[in-house]
Amino acid sequence: MIIDDILKKKTLNKIDRSIVQEYLPNIIPEKKREYKKLVKEVRNELNRVYGVFQLGTNLDLKSHKSTKERIEIYPTLYKRIFNLTGKPKSILDLGCGLNPLSYIYLGNHLKYIASEWNRKDCLLLEEWFKNNKIKGSVIQYDLRKENKFPKVDVVFLFKILGIFKNHKIDEQIIKSLKCKYFIVSFATEILKGNKMRYPKQLWFELMLGRLEFNYSKIDFKNESFYIVKMSH
Ligand SMILES: C[S@@+](CC[C@H](N)C(=O)[O-])C[C@H]1O[C@@H](n2cnc3c(N)ncnc32)[C@H](O)[C@@H]1O
Repeated sequence: MIIDDILKKKTLNKIDRSIVQEYLPNIIPEKKREYKKLVKEVRNELNRVYGVFQLGTNLDLKSHKSTKERIEIYPTLYKRIFNLTGKPKSILDLGCGLNPLSYIYLGNHLKYIASEWNRKDCLLLEEWFKNNKIKGSVIQYDLRKENKFPKVDVVFLFKILGIFKNHKIDEQIIKSLKCKYFIVSFATEILKGNKMRYPKQLWFELMLGRLEFNYSKIDFKNESFYIVKMSH
């Protein structure tokens, strides 16, 4: 029942029930006030990791916050990334959201494997791939658990790392990739700690250093991209 109550929120109603279940404690409080509090907490958490998949009923780049923000930079973004990686023949986009809708900016004839977390979003993307004759496929992955990924030239991890609040999961994802390069992005939010302003993704740079990866960074106004060479 509590799952139904949580999913009543319009922005969350496409999430698989099994996923919501994982965010619930073993014991559900009976008292109304505590029950409501739990519903709110779980919704907040799902909102945070799900990132409001689709803003409206239309399916275009403007329908997701992340892709909407990127519309102006897509042509430059992919050009600058591919200048460093070479033009890939295949891309795996993990936790892709609506980013596959930017396929047009990638240049044609490229195999695009998109992956999302819940079934309805995968079906939605599959339908879009079919209607737009995109060479590619959609796979359902829960990135917290998956460690077998297809071999591709380039992997996109846009605004994914850090959302699980456990950097061991992030490291596990990176170590499982089979690719020549992977691209990681973060929103350029700044944490304000006294007068020092330091980037949110410092932990990631430290991780790359520890794992001895070579990387370049491209900064845009709202988002920073790390182009990381897979050396193993
Ligand atoms: C901030 S959005 C980023 C979407 C897309 N990568 C982009 O930047 O345009 C975070 C995405 O992670 C997905 N996600 C959340 N938890 C996940 C999980 N456990 N496994 C796979 N994807 C997950 C959400 O469905 C959502 O699409």
